[in-house]
Order: sequence, then C-alpha cells, then structure tokens
Amino acid sequence: MQLIRTISDLRTALKAERSRGKSIGFVPTMGYLHIGHLTLVKNSQQHCDVSVVSIFVNPTQFAPNEDLAQYPRDLPRDLKLLEEQGCDYVFAPDVNEMYPDGSGKTSTYVDAGELSSILMGALRPHHFRGVATVVSKLFNIVQPDKAFFGEKDYQQLAVIKRMVADLNQPVDVVGVTTVREPDGLACSSRNSLLSAQDRAAAVVLPQAMQLAQTLVDQGERSVAALRHAVVDKLQQEPRGEIEAVDIRDAETLAETAEQLTAPAVLLLTVRFGKTRLIDQHVLRFLN
Ligand code: PAF
Repeated sequence: MQLIRTISDLRTALKAERSRGKSIGFVPTMGYLHIGHLTLVKNSQQHCDVSVVSIFVNPTQFAPNEDLAQYPRDLPRDLKLLEEQGCDYVFAPDVNEMYPDGSGKTSTYVDAGELSSILMGALRPHHFRGVATVVSKLFNIVQPDKAFFGEKDYQQLAVIKRMVADLNQPVDVVGVTTVREPDGLACSSRNSLLSAQDRAAAVVLPQAMQLAQTLVDQGERSVAALRHAVVDKLQQEPRGEIEAVDIRDAETLAETAEQLTAPAVLLLTVRFGKTRLIDQHVLRFLN
C-alpha cells in the first residue's frame, strides 16, 4: 500500500495503473475508519483492479459553529486498517493541498440545488455544497471508474448521484448497504464521540426504524401514523433530542402522498449531547 500526500504524485501513480489497463475504484472518507468504510473498500476490491481511499476532513462541509476541530482523527490507525485490508493507495492530502489559498475555502463550488437544501440541508445549509465540491475535486484528481458510498448517508448519496448525472462526470456511483453494530446502531465515526450512556441510548434509532417497518408489514400506509409511531418511540429515550423524522420518496427524496404507494425512505436525525446521529431505512412493502 502506498501513502500519497500530493495530487501530482497520485495522478502519476494512477496514470501508470491506467496505462496497464487497470480499473480504479475509489472510496472517499474523512478517516477514523470503521467496519463500514472497510466494507466500502471490500466492494471496491470486488469490482475494480486498484482501490484508492482518500482521507481528508473537508473544511468546506462544516459550518463555523460545527465540529471540524472536534472531528475524530487517527491516521496511523487508519493506515494500519487499510494495509490489513489490502488497499492499494491512500490519498491523505493536507488542507493546503486541496484548498491552496490556505483559507480552507474555494472560489468555485458545486451546488446540487434543491436536493442540497432540503432535509439535512435545511439543518446544515452549506454542508452538501461542501460535500459536492470536495467529491467533485476528488473525482477530478482520482478519475475513478467506480466510487463507493455508504447508504447511511442517504441524502449525500442522492446529491452525489445527481451531481454526477448533471455534470456528466464519467464515474459509476455505487451505494453500499449500511453496516451496523451488533445492537443495530449504524457504524459511524461519530459513534466514538458518544458517552457510554449515550451510546447505549442510541440503539433507539434502529429500534424506531424496525418499528416503522413492522407497522408497514402489518399494512400501515399512513405517513402521519408511521411518523407519529417513530417520534413516540424516539421520545421514550430522553437522552436523544429529535432533530428530524422524515418519510420521503426513496428515489427522489420528494414529499410522499399521505398514503404510501411506493417504497419510501425513513430518515432520522437525533442528537445525543453534541453529537448528531443520522440513520435511514427504506420501508419496503411485503404485501
Ligand atoms: O461521507 C463522508 O465521509 C464525506 O462527506 C465525504 C464523502 C468523504 C466528503 O468529504
């Protein structure tokens, strides 16, 4: 495995791989890797000849009042995990390499429009613009054949798919099923920021999603009733502060009709202390 710090070194290495006819798989991350990231790398290894992981905590997707400085980092541990996983290249640039004027900002941004401003975008107004911008820059640097993203960040995946379609970027974006802890909590770098009590309490997220699926299995189709049941379940855990409970069209993230007629996605945002957890579950109809 090679650790590469600069854009030009990475371009040189990947140009050589491409000239040997190798396909390139790419997993963008902000580091502090967990089993969910390693599953993305495994997917890349299954579908592509060479796998590249980027580790970059991207300042443009954090608002000034958000947790950029607090975001967990441990590059030596990440490198060990990736080496063990058999990853080929790790691209870990510093901020000035990605945003050369030293401010952690750029003049040109990619704005994915409506999809960026709804749901989590309403809570974090510049977040998806920062994500779309850095992912676009990384796509230009790596020029992957395929890029792998977790479905946990459902709206992020939708924003990136839209960006790639709208800008005709030549990359196949692959969504990968969320990896969960044994108690059902979605794996996330942010879980490490939870106190022991909050970590235990956070199991209410998968429980609320499971409840919604059970109700759908029993024939419930009313969005209001499903939402009410989920909110009620989440409120049984006083350590969690509900920020959002949304049921949206699973494809477009548009509002659904009051009675569901097609698969919908349940999107949860719940804060435990200062840590915001998100999760998603696609409500499927069995009958
Ligand atoms: O999901 C993440 O870790 C980040 O939003 C991403 C896609 C690496 C962009 O910084």
